[in-house]
Amino acid sequence: MESNNDKYLNGNKIPKITLNNGTNIPVLGLGTFGSDNYSAQQIADAVDFAIRNGYRHIDCASVYMNEAEIGSVISGLIKEGVVKREELWITSKVWNDAHGAGEVIDSCKKSLKNLKLDYLDLFLIHWPFPNYHAPGCDGDARNPNSRPYNHDAYMMAWRQMEALVDMGLVKSIGTSNMTIPKMELLLRDARIKPVVNEMELHPHFQQPELFDFLVERGIQPIGYSPIGSPKRPERDRTSDDTVDIEDPVIVSIAERLHLHPAEVCIKWGVQRGEVVIPFSVSPTKIVNNLKAVTSNAITHEEMQQIAGIDKNCRLIKGQVFLWEGAKSWEDLWDLNGEITC
Ligand SMILES: NC(=O)c1ccc[n+]([C@@H]2O[C@H](COP(=O)([O-])OP(=O)(O)OC[C@H]3O[C@@H](n4cnc5c(N)ncnc54)[C@H](OP(=O)(O)O)[C@@H]3O)[C@@H](O)[C@H]2O)c1
Repeated sequence: MESNNDKYLNGNKIPKITLNNGTNIPVLGLGTFGSDNYSAQQIADAVDFAIRNGYRHIDCASVYMNEAEIGSVISGLIKEGVVKREELWITSKVWNDAHGAGEVIDSCKKSLKNLKLDYLDLFLIHWPFPNYHAPGCDGDARNPNSRPYNHDAYMMAWRQMEALVDMGLVKSIGTSNMTIPKMELLLRDARIKPVVNEMELHPHFQQPELFDFLVERGIQPIGYSPIGSPKRPERDRTSDDTVDIEDPVIVSIAERLHLHPAEVCIKWGVQRGEVVIPFSVSPTKIVNNLKAVTSNAITHEEMQQIAGIDKNCRLIKGQVFLWEGAKSWEDLWDLNGEITC
């Protein structure tokens, strides 16, 4: 991959946030879902470049089908002395097809083997349903085994997450794509509280109610698709979707700060108190995103302007996880404040 003048930026420059169990997560991580556009090796090469240039946090998942390639890169960098294991924050996630008895633990062990690690810093339940789709399927695909949210089934998965902490295989556990009513049930029943919820967050989809709910309860929001996922797969596109990086407010702040609008989206997320995990395989963008996080702040007035452009525009609607009989993707997100069954 191409090199640049800022090689070996000091990873300590990226601020960290202390989670509710005392661990410290870097506010910027590299996403590793290539949206079907890039090979596993291209993404592993991006991880190599990112860590060599100061990134310390990598957001992985078994369903991204690139953990073995990323693991080879990480173990190579540790052997080379570029980074120590304890300086890295590595996240993985259990996919929807492995929520059953014993399966969460097996999935974690498989991710550890692929990533060539003794422990994960963070392990997440990727979606709160055991519903899954074939890789690369189109948006109308339905799996006949898909079911609405079932709290007992979710807790069977969560108990295994807790066991993974007890076993020392993961330092922290968390959720992803949760709603307020689902999180209320988990907080009622969990022995080990989630430290984070990974969720879609970008200027046109700010989720203020869920964001505040989490922060008030000491659960850190991790924002995925922080740029508005401009290269997301076709199945995740609709004609109503809006484009964050073309918003006049974002564009004008980008002009003032001499940044790309994508970098303004990332900065806004961090200044708002999120952990952000933008994806890129481009060395220039990877470095620019890191610099953006550590450069001049967005002003208070600009933060207020961005708060005013929220369009409640969810991009990753999850429609491929719907069950037969479900009306639309809104059924996944408990929009009336109750779990939809
Ligand atoms: N938990 C979940 O359910 C979930 C769901 C979705 C995503 N995620 C995680 O979140 C990560 C990020 O989300 P995402 O990939 O959907 O979307 P994203 O980070 O919002 O957007 C990624 C795209 O933005 C472009 N980009 C990055 N930096 C840029 C810059 N400085 N200037 C211009 N363009 C830039 C990249 O272009 P190039 O391709 O040209 O580099 C890339 O294709 C994923 O990789 C994954 O790790 C988690």
